[in-house]
Formats: sequence, structure tokens, C-alpha cells
Amino acid sequence: MKHLLSAGDLDRDEALLVLETAEKLRELADRPIKKLPTLRGRTIVNLFFEDSTRTRISFEAAAKRLSADVINFSAKGSSVEKGESLKDTALTLEAMGADAVVVRHQSSGAPHRLAHSGWIQSCVVNAGDGSHEHPTQALLDAFTMRRHLGALDGRRVAIVGDVLHSRVARSNVLLLSTLGAEVTLVAPPTLLPVGVERWTCATSYDLDAVLPKTDVVMMLRVQRERMNAAFFPSAREYSRRYGLDAARMAALPEHALVMHPGPMNRGMEISADVADSTRSVIVEQVTNGVAIRMAVLYLLLAGAGSAVDDTVPEQRRGRA
Ligand code: NCD
Repeated sequence: MKHLLSAGDLDRDEALLVLETAEKLRELADRPIKKLPTLRGRTIVNLFFEDSTRTRISFEAAAKRLSADVINFSAKGSSVEKGESLKDTALTLEAMGADAVVVRHQSSGAPHRLAHSGWIQSCVVNAGDGSHEHPTQALLDAFTMRRHLGALDGRRVAIVGDVLHSRVARSNVLLLSTLGAEVTLVAPPTLLPVGVERWTCATSYDLDAVLPKTDVVMMLRVQRERMNAAFFPSAREYSRRYGLDAARMAALPEHALVMHPGPMNRGMEISADVADSTRSVIVEQVTNGVAIRMAVLYLLLAGAGSAVDDTVPEQRRGRA
């Protein structure tokens, strides 16, 4: 595979290959020297047209841990503000010899355009496009679930909140169903997308009915920046019906995990005590994100041919 544009592009074996590769690379996070020589001499551009903290930093850390050269491009303060098009930006990157472009864009489909336009030769990784997809987030979420719960076949995952505007929800539904999990989207009717009945998941308006039967509850941020109308009466009303607080968390089975892709609106979709509770794996999701992005960059750029195991001893030799 040359690009990673959608979680739906991965079949079960490919998804498992990414997750297992990330598992090997995850060990690196616990070592004092967190670097492998695998992508030395390769150039990775982080092309961010939309604000981001953890995704951009995560891709940067991943590329650097694989010894690639990283160029960070953010639209703010660049010629994009002077009206430069996606095409001209792409041609500039191509001229600089980028091997991979990690792109986040406010328009759904921008990464596909970049990958299939013929403007550039590099691999394209979708780091979030509009309300469409965010495949590496789904991969790091699945990775985090598997570390706690083992294989995901038959596991029940509730994704709760602003599904309508969420690329995280969309990518998670695609990937989790490929991995055999049963997903239920829980939201008020106004925050479920048109056509959701054709997605490979169930839907519910009733969070309290779903919680006792779930292995993972993933809370979504209410995306006010993408809302151009009133989708619910008030923040208080929303949080009363769809927020996860300590009382609701108590209805979850003992082993259930609480997740959130970040950034959180504490007090809105999730209460502060739940976010900081022992059930919450929210900080771990961030750590795991680096391993997943390393795996994706590694598999796209170094190829599946060379096993990760070969590079790990090299680091050990380097340190000896
Ligand atoms: C998500 C995103 O940007 O799509 N965050 C992330 O990547 N960590 C979710 C969100 O913005 O709510």
C-alpha cells in the first residue's frame, strides 16, 4: 500500500500487521534511547492546515524516532495565508524531495486529492480531513484496546457524542468492524449523520441503556468549531444526557475502559474525575499514538519486507 487515506482501506491482515508492528515499536518508548536508524535520510513533511497539538507532535516524534528528517509546515504564517493553493503547496513539497506527506486539512477529501492528483510522488498519510476520516487515530485506539482486552472480536465498543462532526468515529467504525468488534454509536438524533443506518454499527439515543453492556466507552468532543446551527438545547442539557460522569461510569462493567481522542471539554462530554480516573486510558492513547505512527511510516516507507525485529538489535548494538 502506498498511502493511508482511510481506515477502510485496511483489510484485517493489513490492520493486524500495523498493530503488531506498533507493538514491537512500542517497546522503544520505555527505553532511555528512543531511536532507530530505519528511516535515516528520508524526508517526512507534516502538512497541517488545521490546528492540532497531539497529532502533529505525535507524527513528529514518530518520524524522529525512526531517524527521518522532519519538516513541519503549518498553514498559519505560510504562503497559504497569501492564497496559495493546495496544488502549489504540493508542488513545493515535491520540489523539496518529500518521501511522505502527513496531511491534516479542514476539507474532507484533501488527502485523497493530494494522493491521486499526480502532483506529488510521495506517500500520503491522512492525519484528519474535515469530518471525514482520521485513520491513525482509529489504529491507536484499537491498539490501546487490544493492550487491555486482547483480540477485539466480539468486544462491544460504544462511541458517544458528536458523531456527526467526528472523523474519529467514522474511522473507528470502519476499523473496529474489520477487527470484529461490535460498535454502537450513541448520540442525540441531531448529532448522528444522515445514512448512518448503512454504517457497519448499531445506533442508540440512550447512553444509560448501553453502558452496562460495553467493554469500551469512547467519548467524543463536541466540535463547536464545525457546528453552524443549534444541535442541542444547552451545554447543560447535553452533558446531563450524554456526558460521562462518575455516576454513569459506575454502570460500566468492572473491566471497561474509558477513552477520548482529545482534546477534551472537561465538564461537557466527560467530567474531570472520570477523565483522571484509573479506568481512563486517555494519556496512554497519546503514548500509543507515537508507536502507531512509527509503524505506519515504517510500513509505507521501509516496506513490509524488512522485519522490525532486525532494526531493534541494531539499536542495542549502538548502545552497547
Ligand atoms: C481529534 C481530531 O482532530 O479529529 N483529535 C485528535 O486527533 N487527537 C478529535 C477532535 O478534535 O475532537
